[in-house]
Amino acid sequence: MNSSETQMKAVTIPEFGAAEVLRLAGVAVPEAGPGQVAIDVAFAGANFAEVLYRRGVVDVPLPFVPGIEVAGRVRAVGEGVGHLTVGQPVAALTIVDSGGYAEVVVTSADLVAPLDGLGMGMDVAAALPSNSTTAFLVLDRVARVERGERVLVHAAAGGVGSQLGQAARQLGAGRVVGTVGGAAKVETALGFGYDEVVLRDQVADAGEFDVVVDMVGGPTRRASLDRLAPMGRLVVMGNASGADDVGIPANELWFTNKTVSGFNLAAFSAAFPGDTGRALRRAVAAAAAGDLRVQVESLPLEQAGEAHRRIESGRTTGKLVLDVAAGGA
Ligand SMILES: NC(=O)c1ccc[n+]([C@@H]2O[C@H](COP(=O)([O-])OP(=O)(O)OC[C@H]3O[C@@H](n4cnc5c(N)ncnc54)[C@H](OP(=O)(O)O)[C@@H]3O)[C@@H](O)[C@H]2O)c1
Repeated sequence: MNSSETQMKAVTIPEFGAAEVLRLAGVAVPEAGPGQVAIDVAFAGANFAEVLYRRGVVDVPLPFVPGIEVAGRVRAVGEGVGHLTVGQPVAALTIVDSGGYAEVVVTSADLVAPLDGLGMGMDVAAALPSNSTTAFLVLDRVARVERGERVLVHAAAGGVGSQLGQAARQLGAGRVVGTVGGAAKVETALGFGYDEVVLRDQVADAGEFDVVVDMVGGPTRRASLDRLAPMGRLVVMGNASGADDVGIPANELWFTNKTVSGFNLAAFSAAFPGDTGRALRRAVAAAAAGDLRVQVESLPLEQAGEAHRRIESGRTTGKLVLDVAAGGA
């Protein structure tokens, strides 16, 4: 996109609803303020989070441009930003104010990872900021996984599930087990480095774990609590099933020496941008070193609605990204 243009292409949410509400529209090009960077977007990740924004689960002002992560090239830097240069290839979290489903997005310079010299495709780079950063933060910062510990991850073939197993391994976990909703995903999940993958409705037979990560919710939440060993930690980080909230019995935690924690990347990024950026750069380095595999499928930006439908179907594996610059910037 020409740097003098004032209008750009973006996918917007004009009203809350089903995937059909998403609209390609012309909107004003955002400009980088102090401490921020503007990015010419090559690819934008497509996530469950954007589905929740579109459904109105998160109350955002309309019309709204979703998009919590991108890869592209630095278009401009705001006042006080000395470590990034125009034209530099970057991956970035745009999760605090969203806006990634667009030709240009602005985000905090703290939430950026340079890609220079890594030889990483922009499609792969766009798939890392949300799920891979989350995986490291959840296991290292929240669950505080220790060497040799047993880790159980639900929806192990999905976007974030595929990263959590590999991150657990990197952090020195011992046995790493995943669950999937159906037999068709077992092989895919095993390909992400899990020692064992079990069907979620048979998780009661999977043994005890020091850490369980639940982004599915509903009956899976209770089953997760039941799988914790003494001093075990359950991290609650999503509700992909769309089930009603599940109460956590505090007295049971007291009697059984169990801990339940929550993690939300949007709130964490706003409160701790420095820590989030460090985790993002760690994830990018791990992917560049071949220690973190991401399975990516790309759709044109214009097919954002199709991406949302696929995510909502629960049938996807790995990660969908949207090609914003039609072939990459
Ligand atoms: N807290 C955070 O900061 C954070 C960060 C990233 C993601 N998340 C959350 O983690 C969850 C997964 O995100 P993701 O990006 O990995 O998405 P994804 O790739 O689409 O994976 C979601 C998986 O959830 C399972 N699932 C169970 N019931 C479902 C239903 N009714 N509809 C759709 N999927 C269902 C499916 O796996 P099976 O077939 O194996 O059941 C599905 O593949 C979402 O809830 C998301 O909001 C949270």
